[in-house]
Amino acid sequence: MPKIALIPGDGIGREIVSETVKVLHAVGTRFGHNFVTETALAGGAAIDDCGQPLPQQTIDLCRQSDAVLLGAVGGPKWDNLPGDRRPEKAILGLRKELGLFANLRPVKLYPVLSAASPLRPDLLANGIDLLIVRELTGGIYFGPRTRVQQDGQTIASDTEIYSTNEIKRIINVAFRLAQKRKHKVTSVDKANVLESSRLWRETAVSVGQNFTDVELDHLYVDNAAMQLILNPNQFDVMVTSNIFGDILSDEASVLTGSIGMLPSASLREDSFGLYEPSHGSAPDIAGQNLANPLATILSLALLLRFSLNLTQEADAIENAVEAVLNEGYRTADLTKEQSTRVSTTKMGDLVVAKLLGLK
Ligand code: IPM
Ligand code: MG
Repeated sequence: MPKIALIPGDGIGREIVSETVKVLHAVGTRFGHNFVTETALAGGAAIDDCGQPLPQQTIDLCRQSDAVLLGAVGGPKWDNLPGDRRPEKAILGLRKELGLFANLRPVKLYPVLSAASPLRPDLLANGIDLLIVRELTGGIYFGPRTRVQQDGQTIASDTEIYSTNEIKRIINVAFRLAQKRKHKVTSVDKANVLESSRLWRETAVSVGQNFTDVELDHLYVDNAAMQLILNPNQFDVMVTSNIFGDILSDEASVLTGSIGMLPSASLREDSFGLYEPSHGSAPDIAGQNLANPLATILSLALLLRFSLNLTQEADAIENAVEAVLNEGYRTADLTKEQSTRVSTTKMGDLVVAKLLGLK
């Protein structure tokens, strides 16, 4: 029996994870699976409970599970804590402890949501279907950091640091994924300025020699940010460092209408993975039944596909989501004229009903 660790976290995290659990059980009913779930605390909820963002118990539960589904962490209540005790430390700690070096963020425009995109319709005529592959356990997020007093002022530093092995393994992931898509990899760096980026680019070129069926090109990150807006359809797989991937994936997500639609998978070499929406805990709308649960529901589809090898089940969720959107149902983040505005729980119910063939 597949075991899934649930970490709802803070803010809207709890609401969107409960909707996703309803969808999980609907998949179980329809396809005859018995999914076992167990819930653990992380982030602000864990700080309140035991004084630290990532309790050992939570790490242990993840290690004993086949996959992890996470909501979101953080909120104003914990914003003034020192860096290593903030809720975000839980996410960073889980990624590092579990070795989840490859973060996949598929950016897909559902044609029916085109009107919610900030881009002009003519730029969307050919759709958007790209995949951001973000290195997740290295770079400036995890490099040495300092804060010292010198000559009467405070000086702080963070370090962008990458080894060839770290770069090779993430570039390999990008190429293998491109082989199943449109056979194009764009590696994003800042090689005109940064030494770590020069190593990134050299390594990408050398890994690329093993994948003769995939085209490789390179963009500086500033240009990549611009190209995403000018012509997102030129991209298939984009591969980049931890921090550039963080920034570019937020930018890319809204091209599809709302960051509330963007799922993510954090993987390592085996089938284990952690799945979470790419958005945060949205404290401003928490507890109001307003949040869009679809990024989390779509993250569950990724979980079934990558960690449990349940392809049909994953497809069924994605089709159910698209069908519900095609019928005009929208949460507040996506509401436009001629759509029916629904709550978080109603959106979950609609996806469940589709999966079970109830309407
Ligand atoms: C993300 C988030 C995290 C990150 C934060 C919450 C630490 O922005 O997953 O993109 O920066 O990686
Ligand atoms: Mg981010």
